[in-house]
Amino acid sequence: IEDRSMEEKEQTEGGLHFVGKKDELMEAKRSFRTIEDRDILIIYYQGVFYAMDSYCYHAGGLLQDGDIEEINSKLCIICPKHKYKLTLAEGECLYRGTNPREKPPVPRWYSKGVKQRTHTVTENNGEVYVKLSDRSDWIESDYYQGEKGKIERAKA
Ligand code: FES
Repeated sequence: IEDRSMEEKEQTEGGLHFVGKKDELMEAKRSFRTIEDRDILIIYYQGVFYAMDSYCYHAGGLLQDGDIEEINSKLCIICPKHKYKLTLAEGECLYRGTNPREKPPVPRWYSKGVKQRTHTVTENNGEVYVKLSDRSDWIESDYYQGEKGKIERAKA
């Protein structure tokens, strides 16, 4: 037992945050956690855990209430507010568009790139850990995790 608590401590120090027991998170399917002041949504879907910033980068919509659909072979959460589609794995925003130079133009899915910050989920002995993304570049969902964004979201 002592060894295990030592191990857990090291994991937290390595940036891994314990977020819950695997079976509880599986049953909940969507779980909200605050880690280092960041509000995170943990999703369990088709046998896999995902974690991402919980407020949609577009206007702070609550992703925890979004449906999940497969789009262009990628699982996406659909923001309930304006239906933006964000891939669970990468946080890419997908949209459907046409290329006017194509004759005739055929609607296809395109990516706006990574807009929602995603985080890493790991499991160990029935326990689940999240490591926050360490990408140092600005990702648009960062806005709603900051002070200004939180105030704006509260007003909406
Ligand atoms: Fe998510 Fe607009 S807030 S689509």
